[in-house]
Amino acid sequence: MHVLVTGATGQVGRRFLPRLLRWSGQDRVRVLVRDAERAEAFAALGAETHVGDLRDSATLPGALAGMDAVVHIAAAFRGVPDEEARAVNRDATLALAEAALAEGARRFVFVSTNLVYGAGRGRPAVETDETRADGILRGAYPDSKIEAERGLVRLHRERGLDVRIARLSFVYGDGDPHLEQSLRWVVDWAAHQRLQLVHHADVAQALRLLLRAPGIGGGIYNVADDAPVSAVEVLELTGTPVPDGMAERPLADAWDGIVSNRRIREELGFRPLYPSLRTADDAGCR
Ligand SMILES: NC(=O)c1ccc[n+]([C@@H]2O[C@H](COP(=O)([O-])OP(=O)(O)OC[C@H]3O[C@@H](n4cnc5c(N)ncnc54)[C@H](OP(=O)(O)O)[C@@H]3O)[C@@H](O)[C@H]2O)c1
Repeated sequence: MHVLVTGATGQVGRRFLPRLLRWSGQDRVRVLVRDAERAEAFAALGAETHVGDLRDSATLPGALAGMDAVVHIAAAFRGVPDEEARAVNRDATLALAEAALAEGARRFVFVSTNLVYGAGRGRPAVETDETRADGILRGAYPDSKIEAERGLVRLHRERGLDVRIARLSFVYGDGDPHLEQSLRWVVDWAAHQRLQLVHHADVAQALRLLLRAPGIGGGIYNVADDAPVSAVEVLELTGTPVPDGMAERPLADAWDGIVSNRRIREELGFRPLYPSLRTADDAGCR
């Protein structure tokens, strides 16, 4: 199966790409990047490169030509204006899916986020829950992901796009500074507010399963490890002092951001290689 990957230069993509290339054998892997120089490392491993911006619809047919599938990882959410988040995460995603249908790349793995669930369920969120981004981390980013998901599911129902949606939890590991970056907001949380995580190795495992599994078109899967961590544990594991009074802060919703990984375990055989942050830390892979 020849695969186009977007977002290969990002935190998730750059750790997924080498793994995908190892798994791909004779299959072609192409990356759509904005800067050819930043794809040189992937080209050295055997990836083809197509240079373009996702928002430029003229670049999409060339990026997709000869491909059977797309793993769409790219997104705009790190410090970008709301209009850019919508243009990339919603509009460009749906344009890419339309172009994929036109070019015959019918399988479409979309990387989404657990932030689409919002708060207030009193239990871990499951894939059949209604989406509404009203959680502790809200805004144009989760909103645009919800709208993209809805558009893709419509393209599945009406036009036969073989879409598979991966809702990732907070991703860490393999030297990603993300956990340290999260301290900006985690220090303001209640001590026992929890964060659901997933290691890069397990994101790659999940994306491979979603890409390859037959007969799961239209399927949505939470991608998460087994053991959410409390804010205090994040601070302790990153060697950050616990602020005075943190234990007395009220907890708004104990289940905000917490998801069940039961579906992907049962239907696709996903088993986290790093079921907890502690396991990854013990293995030196944090
Ligand atoms: N990291 C997490 O904890 C997390 C959690 C849940 C879901 N996710 C999802 O995982 C995916 C990857 O996240 P990440 O952490 O790897 O993000 P990231 O580090 O910000 O990477 C974003 C990627 O998207 C590309 N991109 C952005 N705008 C583009 C455009 N207009 N045209 C072409 N490419 C564009 C970037 O390319 P440049 O390098 O050229 O900027 C980069 O490769 C996203 O879909 C995100 O929603 C991530």
